[in-house]
Amino acid sequence: MMDYTDRHFRHLIRLLSKQTLLYTEMVSANAVAHERQFHQTHYRQQHPEACLDTMLQNYNIDYIATRFLAQGTAQEGPSILQLGGSDPDLLYQAAQAVSELSQRSYSDYHCNYTALNLNCGCPSPKVAGKGCFGAALMDDPVLVRDLCHALYEGGQQQYPVTVKCRIGTDTKRSWKDDNNNNNYDEALYQDLCHFIETVAAGGIVQEFTIHARIAVLTKSFSPADNRKIPPLKYHLIQRLVQDYPHLRFILNGGIESIPQVQDQLHRVPGLRGVMVGRAFCADPWRFSGADALLYHSNDTEVPLHRWHILQQYAQYADAQEQQYDPTTIRRFLIKAVTGLFAGEPNSKKYRIALDEIAGLPKKGIHTPVSELLLEAATKHLSEETLFRSPLESYELQTQGQNKDLVQEWQADRQVIL
Ligand SMILES: Cc1cc2nc3c(=O)[nH]c(=O)nc-3n(C[C@H](O)[C@H](O)[C@H](O)COP(=O)(O)O)c2cc1C
Repeated sequence: MMDYTDRHFRHLIRLLSKQTLLYTEMVSANAVAHERQFHQTHYRQQHPEACLDTMLQNYNIDYIATRFLAQGTAQEGPSILQLGGSDPDLLYQAAQAVSELSQRSYSDYHCNYTALNLNCGCPSPKVAGKGCFGAALMDDPVLVRDLCHALYEGGQQQYPVTVKCRIGTDTKRSWKDDNNNNNYDEALYQDLCHFIETVAAGGIVQEFTIHARIAVLTKSFSPADNRKIPPLKYHLIQRLVQDYPHLRFILNGGIESIPQVQDQLHRVPGLRGVMVGRAFCADPWRFSGADALLYHSNDTEVPLHRWHILQQYAQYADAQEQQYDPTTIRRFLIKAVTGLFAGEPNSKKYRIALDEIAGLPKKGIHTPVSELLLEAATKHLSEETLFRSPLESYELQTQGQNKDLVQEWQADRQVIL
């Protein structure tokens, strides 16, 4: 999720779940490809005698790593890099950059993704308006097939390629005609099948993560509307699971808790997984029981409580600030933990304290961020909050003791995509 699932947030989430499959923010393939061309040209000018292999191993990849592709640590675990683009050549080059970064024996940068994913779901006019890009790609499945092929080849055939999409767009039929009637759904499903079959026929893509709403591409519809107004149609994804047993489907949209994830997995045998977006950002701790409850893992490394997680994250934050400039990186490190105590007594005071901590390096105050993070937590949060276990929290959830934190999170958000 853009502006949220950056490497710091993914690191935090990895501290509370070892098993969950993580997705990066969407990275623009065009930007990566252009940076790569720029730095390669520069290298060639400096070393006209260098052969292709030497250039590929030595062109300056630092900016591409820090700005777009690097993971926070070598332990990021299962995580998928999402790319956005609509030009096969640029996607090919972006995937080459991923492969090149992963091959370089850097101790500073980590780049070990499980798979590459193509964004065919973003309805933002910033994205969809630029020709065929994001959700607009769903109207051109042949192009999507070719883009996935380009990603696979650019990644030297080493990365599985998956697709994130919607159940359709409003290009052929207006969303206003959807009065829960079967004809509308049937026509939508036929188009969706055509998309899935065409893309899968390329032989590269076997996994689709599907947001169970259509994308309304009309300009007057905001991205926020597009995540709220078109109705969720989980039943279409259930049909896909039954009709295409050789493919894998992950259901997305409107899932807000572990019991809801369990419910979907129970209802749809064969469903590969459930993707959670906003609820995970709003209240990550709500999913801290995921390893035990969804993956049935006995791993003793699963989090004990939030104090434990914060201590580990604080160490990571210090290490990051030693590697990168705290005046630029601090606010991202802090942003990643803002939701960790969402909904708890005094969580707003804690967030205000975090805001202050984020600004300190710019004022020339360089106290280690770890000290500040831990001090703010002990000052504002109760022991009951800090030391509550994932399973105790899960029990509170099942007793319905959740505030509507997702709504609150959306209302608070400054960033409108
Ligand atoms: C702030 C924000 C940023 C998002 N960025 C991306 C993105 O980069 N790539 C993507 O595929 N989806 C993105 N999405 C969509 C989510 O991945 C997800 O499909 C959508 O929010 C529905 O799932 P949810 O109800 O669990 O949030 C974004 C959503 C939000 C709210």
